[in-house]
Amino acid sequence: MKTNNQQPTTNNQRVPAGHTLWLGIETSCDETSAAVVQSGSEVLSNIIASQVDIHRRFGGVVPEIASRQHLELVNGVVAEALQAAGTELGDLTGIAVTNGPGLVGALVVGIATAKAMAFAASLPLLGINHMAGHIYANFLQSPQPEFPFVCLVVSGGHTDIVYMPEHLSFELLGRTRDDAAGEVFDKTARAMGLGYPGGPVIDRLAAEGNPAAVDFPRARLEEGSFDFSFSGLKTAVLRYFQSNPDVPPEDTAASFQRAVVDVLAERAFRACDDKGVERLVLAGGVAVNSELRRRFAAEAEQRGIELHIPAPILCTDNAAMIASVAHFRYLRGDSDPLTLDADANLPL
Ligand SMILES: Nc1ncnc2c1ncn2[C@@H]1O[C@H](COP(=O)(O)OP(=O)(O)OP(=O)(O)O)[C@@H](O)[C@H]1O
Ligand SMILES: [Mg+2]
Repeated sequence: MKTNNQQPTTNNQRVPAGHTLWLGIETSCDETSAAVVQSGSEVLSNIIASQVDIHRRFGGVVPEIASRQHLELVNGVVAEALQAAGTELGDLTGIAVTNGPGLVGALVVGIATAKAMAFAASLPLLGINHMAGHIYANFLQSPQPEFPFVCLVVSGGHTDIVYMPEHLSFELLGRTRDDAAGEVFDKTARAMGLGYPGGPVIDRLAAEGNPAAVDFPRARLEEGSFDFSFSGLKTAVLRYFQSNPDVPPEDTAASFQRAVVDVLAERAFRACDDKGVERLVLAGGVAVNSELRRRFAAEAEQRGIELHIPAPILCTDNAAMIASVAHFRYLRGDSDPLTLDADANLPL
């Protein structure tokens, strides 16, 4: 782990020496969230205002509507997070905000809020990578994963296999070449007329279906690759659904879900073997999926791999995970200027 020798200082008498208290703000997509986290691990508050009901009627997130909603919600959500944590601005070590990747118009709302607060209260500011946040959700619960580990990040926009030898060191081993895992759940559900967001709907439906009913394709890439490709599966499910109207949608959903989980598990456990690590960490909204959790738990036990999965509320977008990353970056000596900007494609 990279650290510097300077112990962080805070304004707060109630925060024990050497500890930090970060306010996190997250507005990268359609959740407006603010959280107060002590020392990167103890969640004092984590307020999440979801816009899912507003976007549902459009079958997906409408960026312009998301930005306006963030504008309306952000001040109230931040105030609620501070109040729920029993914290005032002057108690904080600093303010952390997601600055990418995500929707630019949505990101800038959180960034402007964080900058204004940091300036007004003379507090340090840190721009945090949203995908690092998803991974660091694992440090918000006990036991925390030890290094090194392999992480499978499965979210609405990303499907990445990442090797982490130490804190804040991310080696990308593989990624999707087309759709992300969450995206393929959402698009498949929409094609089957099941509603939005697709992940939770397919998860529920699949519980009633037979996962062996249809043998959907598992994309094979070059030998040794950790990349993913889900577009062929998406097309195969759509074709099957359209030409087999009498097959129960439960069976199609369960077979589709099994195909996704098979591919994710094959890559993730092979990456552990390849890197010689015995610790696997999951992150992102698709890690809520019940078949995925069951399958990974069973296979990890069988292979003697220690598995970490965040609680469902910490898998999907939230600001506590952003505040957690800030703690570790602050210990390393990082800070960002008030000119911090959004980067829609910010790499890990
Ligand atoms: N039970 C579930 N099964 C499968 N997928 C799920 C489940 N619950 C949520 N998801 C999926 O998780 C995704 C949302 O996760 P998350 O909030 O991490 O993504 P995002 O923030 O939109 O994308 P990114 O983090 O890549 O920017 C959606 O695609 C949703 O369908
Ligand atoms: Mg996300």
